[in-house]
Amino acid sequence: PTQSFFSQPLPIPGVKAPKYTFTNPQTGGPIDYYELEIKPFQRKQYPNLAKSARMVGYDGQFPGPTIDIEQGRESVVRYINNGDRPASTHLHGSYSRAPFDGYADDHIDVGQYKDYYYPNQQNARTLWYHDHVVDHTAENVYFGMAGLYLLHDQHERDLALPTGKYDIPLLIMARQYNSDGTLWDPEKNDEDTSIYGDVVEVNGQPWPNLKVEPRKYRFRLLDGGISRTFKLFLNADQKNNQRVPFYVIGSDCGLLAQSVVTDLVTISIAERWDVVIDFSQFAGQNVTLRNDHEEVNPDTEYLGTDRVMRFIVGTTVSDSSNNGAVPVQLRDVPFPPQDQSVNTRHFEFGRGGSNWVINGIGWHDTADRLLAAPQRGSIEIWELENGGGGWSHPIHVHLVDFQVISRTGSDRSVLPYESAAQQDVVWLGPGETVRVIARFSPWPGLYMFHCHNLIHEDHEMLAEFNVTQVAD
Ligand code: C2O
Ligand code: CU
Repeated sequence: PTQSFFSQPLPIPGVKAPKYTFTNPQTGGPIDYYELEIKPFQRKQYPNLAKSARMVGYDGQFPGPTIDIEQGRESVVRYINNGDRPASTHLHGSYSRAPFDGYADDHIDVGQYKDYYYPNQQNARTLWYHDHVVDHTAENVYFGMAGLYLLHDQHERDLALPTGKYDIPLLIMARQYNSDGTLWDPEKNDEDTSIYGDVVEVNGQPWPNLKVEPRKYRFRLLDGGISRTFKLFLNADQKNNQRVPFYVIGSDCGLLAQSVVTDLVTISIAERWDVVIDFSQFAGQNVTLRNDHEEVNPDTEYLGTDRVMRFIVGTTVSDSSNNGAVPVQLRDVPFPPQDQSVNTRHFEFGRGGSNWVINGIGWHDTADRLLAAPQRGSIEIWELENGGGGWSHPIHVHLVDFQVISRTGSDRSVLPYESAAQQDVVWLGPGETVRVIARFSPWPGLYMFHCHNLIHEDHEMLAEFNVTQVAD
């Protein structure tokens, strides 16, 4: 489709207000109650093409409304399904109790709703809610079922990082459109490997621009797409393409131990990296967020997939608060000690016939798909091996925060911002084996782990683990 780059402003999803607040009868504390309705909407993505694209999103928008909440304040969210097919919503990044975790087989049929309880006791972090229903997660997310959920805490506020209008989520998703302006449909086209997409969207807008002030901003980067991994860098267009640094301050699981300065951030599906960008040197110029063409498969690159969005830097700062130096020490991260690991498990992510499997098992092998039963509270090392074929797999383990402790088998070592982070998704590149360490807590129960290339997930690269309660 034709659309000039960087011509339209970045949409920023609005913050959802709770419908009301009630009292937790056990603790006396407040619980915020929200309602989100999954419903279809139309968006004319390409004004010069005949048709609008029909999408389905939370409250009829994409991204869905942002939920903004303080650590320690509980919430209940009612997801009302007035979409096209069964849905199941997962709050990615939350240690939700199993019945509220968006289990793939927990269908909420069209016309029904379910109330989900979230404890919100974790440290500040960038979470996102998205569909997780069995076999159809990719289409549901691709057509718009995703939104942000931001958890804040006092420790983070004390660091005086950019906040308010200087703290902006950037949900990146690559899509593809038909020549009439409608969205290309992966399901109707029987897509069973990947959707790389040739149109790079941020918050639902292809290649947007954002007017910024010459000061520091915090951006919450999320790759909310289906299959495409981005290698992001920043070009100052009028300074000989000079690269502008990112200060990486946060990951999937909140603040890093230390901020890490880098000029390249690799972000795979479902990963979040929070970065600070300082535009103060670029008043009156453009800074462009770009994608390094370094994918394994050259046929995944198109005209335009080398760029993401443009920051148009103004000349005046309207508010200079929270604009100081980015602190080096950010948080005392509770990394699980490696010498306390009681078990090492090995999982291979590979091809199984026309499906995708974990240790040879797919989700529909219902009798065998329970692949691990760590004891509640125990620390384990999980070795995640890419079974080959040139594919990459972003692997997500529900419930826990983990640390990446090694990468072997490719030229890439653990990235500096990875080693300062806890994560809940890790990118498993071609030929790699990655070891992660996690404490399996706080709750017992049945949880999922899977590839977050959503086409792989829908083609069975999804399994279960059961956190077991230790007998007294
Ligand atoms: Cu982002 Cu199992 O999901
Ligand atoms: Cu995969």
